[in-house]
Amino acid sequence: MVVSFPKIALLASGLVSAVIASVTIANTNPLIHFHGRWDSSPGTWWAGSGLKLNVLGLKSLTLNLGSHTSSPLAAVGVSVNYQPFFTVNVTQGSNVIPLGNLPKIGNTVVRLNVEGWQNNRINLQNIVLNTGALLIPYVPSKLAFTFIGDSLSAGQFLPLGVDQAWPFLTGEFFKAEHTVIAQPGAALSDIVSYGNQHGLSYEFFRTEDDGYYYTTDHNYTTPWDFSRDHPQPTHLVIHIGANDNAQAVPQASFIQTYVAFIKRLRTLYPHQPIFVFTPWGWPNSDGSIGQYYPGAYQTVVSTIQAGGDKNIFLVDTTGWVTWADVFPTNQHPNVPGHAKIAANLEKVLTTWGLKPQRTWATPVLDL
Ligand SMILES: *[C@@H]1O[C@H](CO)[C@@H](O)[C@H](O)[C@H]1NC(C)=O
Ligand SMILES: *[C@@H]1O[C@H](CO)[C@@H](O)[C@H](O)[C@H]1NC(C)=O
Repeated sequence: MVVSFPKIALLASGLVSAVIASVTIANTNPLIHFHGRWDSSPGTWWAGSGLKLNVLGLKSLTLNLGSHTSSPLAAVGVSVNYQPFFTVNVTQGSNVIPLGNLPKIGNTVVRLNVEGWQNNRINLQNIVLNTGALLIPYVPSKLAFTFIGDSLSAGQFLPLGVDQAWPFLTGEFFKAEHTVIAQPGAALSDIVSYGNQHGLSYEFFRTEDDGYYYTTDHNYTTPWDFSRDHPQPTHLVIHIGANDNAQAVPQASFIQTYVAFIKRLRTLYPHQPIFVFTPWGWPNSDGSIGQYYPGAYQTVVSTIQAGGDKNIFLVDTTGWVTWADVFPTNQHPNVPGHAKIAANLEKVLTTWGLKPQRTWATPVLDL
């Protein structure tokens, strides 16, 4: 076999880099920007939880995941340098994350999150980068959304899960950090609903989503330490009630639970604007919309405002979602439906006075 000199050099350098230790980032490294909810293993709960990395000289990235990772796999959304998110299925063990074309010099921002409302656990052991890669700080956006909801916010039934859902899309539009604490089937009231042992008025304050009940390795919940949210949310958006209605929670009781929930949120978020969605309802093929809790959301908002808290706003979503915008089999928004909801919310928020950030707070410098 004839091997030309450059080929030998290439082969040699390949051998050398295989021999020279790559860069291992411990899961305790403070330069990993964790977002969403992670337990102490550390492992993710809730769709959308994940991490961000800013790396100089990045060429390769491997995630080593531990035994608390969902089996057989967890779908993870990955975005490199703010390009669209794509799915990588990861498993316990070693996972090479495809990065595409990277800048020759300069930094690379990798954003990664679990997509699913179930099978959404990644248990990070460490991250291995190429030799010469240097982890540098990720600076979070000045804007940070927390969204609270159920299946209509968690991206259930979407190919890319929460990454295609209106909360995530809205966060991206504003170049904001975003956390989605949403549980399909869950009510706001703390009742058993569609297999969830708790409602959001309880589970929102926990590290784990309601899936904990179906695991053998972590069959319990722990309080969430809200000081771990960095940055703290600047804006909150809540869309909930479909499952309270489905479980026949009376309107007066729902209102009472909702008002108490907002008051409890205020102990964490004293001055953040809170946006309360009215339901868009369940669109039917004949063009009608199945509505629930008429006037309840108005009552919640006016009750809070009457108590002197004016930093709460009703978002009337009537007409936002029609039959064409949902999957016919389950009446949940489809991919274009979620994009339409996001566009509507973006209009509401910009009209209200919120402007998208001009650039991401961690820019990509292709030198
Ligand atoms: C991820 O796994 C699911 C389930 O097996 C599969 O349907 C999907 O095509 C996979 N996606 C990718 C990007 O590998
Ligand atoms: C989790 O614990 C509860 C009792 O607290 C039990 O009913 C349930 O079956 C357990 N789940 C699993 C998957 O072991």
